[in-house]
Amino acid sequence: MTVHPHSASARQAKKSAAEAFGIDEAYIGLLVESFYTRVRDDAMLGPIFDKRIKAWPEHLERMKQFWRSVLHNSGSFSGNPMLKHVAIPQIEAAEFDHWLALFEQTLVDTAPSEAARDMILVPARMIADSLLAGIRIHRDGRLPSRMKDVQHA
Ligand code: HEM
Repeated sequence: MTVHPHSASARQAKKSAAEAFGIDEAYIGLLVESFYTRVRDDAMLGPIFDKRIKAWPEHLERMKQFWRSVLHNSGSFSGNPMLKHVAIPQIEAAEFDHWLALFEQTLVDTAPSEAARDMILVPARMIADSLLAGIRIHRDGRLPSRMKDVQHA
């Protein structure tokens, strides 16, 4: 039987699997709050966010919805992350690497287990890679560096 990925049963299955690792709504809330507290204090990323986020409570609520969509298939997020990030001129590989390092450290400090940490880090890396690829294509009309290196080899 084919289960539609967004059907109620598939949604519930993904949520239950995550919750079995301690990734429940409360943990997602804690992760988001803890991560963006660090981001705001960060010398490289803080100013980029401060310039653009007018209301932090709304941004944090949006990011909780986003991560519930990713980790629980909740369908609670609707937005356009690609367009939003393409519009930020400062961000390149170094900023994404730093974002990921900060996110990983937040997980090391807060995740209920190593397995839970990986369940969150894997999609975070994939999304970061795809945002960076999209940024480069939109902005510069070029491919991500790894692919560029292959092309020019
Ligand atoms: C260098 C790294 C990054 C920077 C500086 C950054 C910065 C920002 C900023 C300033 C916004 C608010 C944009 C606005 O409302 O106009 C935003 C929104 C958002 N970011 Fe990032 N971001 C980064 C990486 C990531 C990554 C890796 C993810 C996902 C894993 C992510 C997910 C999102 C989402 C879901 C939104 C909301 C988009 C929407 O409202 O449609 N960001 N980011």
